[in-house]
Amino acid sequence: MSHHWLAQRTLQFDSSGIRKVFDLAAKMKNPINLSIGQPDFPVPDEVKQAAIDAIRADRNGYSQTQGIPLLRERLQADLDRAYGHPDRRVLVTSGTSGALVLALLALVDPGDEVIIFDPYFVMYPALVAKVGGKAVYVETYPDFKIDIDKVAAAITPRTKLILFNSPSNPTGVVAAPEETKALAELAARHNVALLSDEIYRLFTYDGPLPSPAQWNADAIVVDGFSKSYAVTGWRLGWVHGPAAIIDKMTMLQQYTFVCAPHPLQWAALAALEVDMSAHAADYSNRRRMVLEGLRQAGYEVATAGGAFYVFPHVPAGRGSGHEFVARAIENELLIIPGGIFSRRDTHFRLSYAAPPATLERGLDVLRKLA
Ligand SMILES: Cc1ncc(COP(=O)(O)O)c(C=O)c1O
Repeated sequence: MSHHWLAQRTLQFDSSGIRKVFDLAAKMKNPINLSIGQPDFPVPDEVKQAAIDAIRADRNGYSQTQGIPLLRERLQADLDRAYGHPDRRVLVTSGTSGALVLALLALVDPGDEVIIFDPYFVMYPALVAKVGGKAVYVETYPDFKIDIDKVAAAITPRTKLILFNSPSNPTGVVAAPEETKALAELAARHNVALLSDEIYRLFTYDGPLPSPAQWNADAIVVDGFSKSYAVTGWRLGWVHGPAAIIDKMTMLQQYTFVCAPHPLQWAALAALEVDMSAHAADYSNRRRMVLEGLRQAGYEVATAGGAFYVFPHVPAGRGSGHEFVARAIENELLIIPGGIFSRRDTHFRLSYAAPPATLERGLDVLRKLA
């Protein structure tokens, strides 16, 4: 009866929805896989070599908790140039996920409210629940833009934190500068912490990504190497924000993750010298192709300006997100039901981090299902 030992917090989540999808997917023979949340380009050779060199040079022990000085100094110089905030500090973390865990541990007390935009990155509600916080959802349907009045109305005396993600997983939508500015100023006005998850910053196609940190010197920003350099398995990210918060997160890292993977921090330093813009341009073209293909087939889909996802509405009369995805899987197309990312199940997520020929096959199935 060992399951009786399980803590209450483990009972708060349910991953059966996505498990069912992957159970169905396991029976596919020649899957057109447009479900993937990581890039399909290879890791640049010089980055691989830097990892190998670091391992051979015996840089395999613990690093300083906050990260190797050269990487930290490089990241700090970049953000000093970008923001010029005298109090902004950086911490190298075990992925963006590690940074998110530490930020929630550092900021959220049991009973505190955390505002999450729906649709959301799957991890957010679970992370909030893990620290005993209460998720308060602000919907962004149908265009996935932020309605600042809705956010203002969701703020209560218990609101501690707003979790913001642009470009968004799962919608691919990039918040406009005026939306981002309004959110940054709203958080400052209400003395609420604002965390900006900018992991898809490289994949921002129609202009530079506006960051709330441009308008709110206390904004906490998480970023990572996973997507930009196709190293999702390396577990490397960073976070920057007010020194007092970064200090506490560093202490929490010391007592949890200890440090980010040491040899790979040297590879990250090399990665920052590599220009990945050709890959971003390639993904921007795929995005255009997918949006056009979907619209021509009659799908209603918000214009995605970033990441590598689009989030179309299930066509009228074609059931829920889960029902539609079950039918897509019967046709060898693997996509993800919107209900995985939302309290609604009316959409589906398609990832275009796949070769154009695969995207064409996927669009063929979607034309048929429309
Ligand atoms: C919005 C968002 N944040 C964070 C992460 C986690 O990234 P990392 O590999 O850096 O932990 C992901 C990965 O899918 C993501 O989509």
